[in-house]
Amino acid sequence: MKTPKILKVDDLQFQILISAEDLHRRIEELAEEISRDYEGRVPIMVGVLNGAVIFLADLIRYMSIDCEIDFIKISSYGNARVSSGEITMIKDFSADLHGRDIVVVEDIVDSGLSVQYLKRRILNMKPASLKFVSLLVKRGTAKVDLSIDYVGFEIEDKFVIGYGLDYKQQKRNVNAIYQLVE
Ligand code: IMP
Ligand code: MG
Repeated sequence: MKTPKILKVDDLQFQILISAEDLHRRIEELAEEISRDYEGRVPIMVGVLNGAVIFLADLIRYMSIDCEIDFIKISSYGNARVSSGEITMIKDFSADLHGRDIVVVEDIVDSGLSVQYLKRRILNMKPASLKFVSLLVKRGTAKVDLSIDYVGFEIEDKFVIGYGLDYKQQKRNVNAIYQLVE
C-alpha cells in the first residue's frame, strides 16, 4: 500500500510519523541484537495478535538464528481509541513454553497492562527465560512498572495506526506508522 503524507479516516486526520524505510532499518537492528543475544539457542517468538503480526513477520526474517513462532490473542482496546484496561484472552498459546526461551513480540506498549498480564501468564508456565520486544513504546503512559528489553521507537502519547496497528480494525496494512493530528 502507498504511504502518503496524510491519511484520512472517518473525520480523523493522521500524519506520517515513521516511514517504511525507517521502520525496516530499525527492525533489522533489533533482529541483529536479538540474534546476538540468543546465539546458540532457539527462542519462541510469541506474537501478540492482531497488532504484532506485521512486525513479527518482518523481524524474524531479519534474524540470523533459528526460532519458532507462536501467537496469543488478547484484547484490551475494543473499538475505541482509549484502552479499557480490562484484558480478555481470545486465543491462548499453542506451543509448550515450559523450559523455553520466550520473546514476546508486541506492536505497542501504552498502559503496560497487556505486558503485565502476559508476563504473569508466561512466568506461570516456567519458561527458561522471558523477554519483551515492542516496536513502539509510548512515553510516560505506563500505569505499571515494567521494562521492555528491546524497544524499536519511543513515541509521544498520541494515537497511532499502520504497520499492524488499527483504527476500528482497519489500516493495519498501511506500510508506515501514522499519528493522529489533534
Ligand atoms: P496497553 O495494554 O495499554 O499497553 O496496550 C497495548 C495494546 O493496545 C497494544 O498492543 C495495541 O494493540 C493497543 N494500542 C495501544 N496504543 C495504541 C495506538 O496508539 N494505536 C493502536 N493500538 C494501540
Ligand atoms: Mg497489541
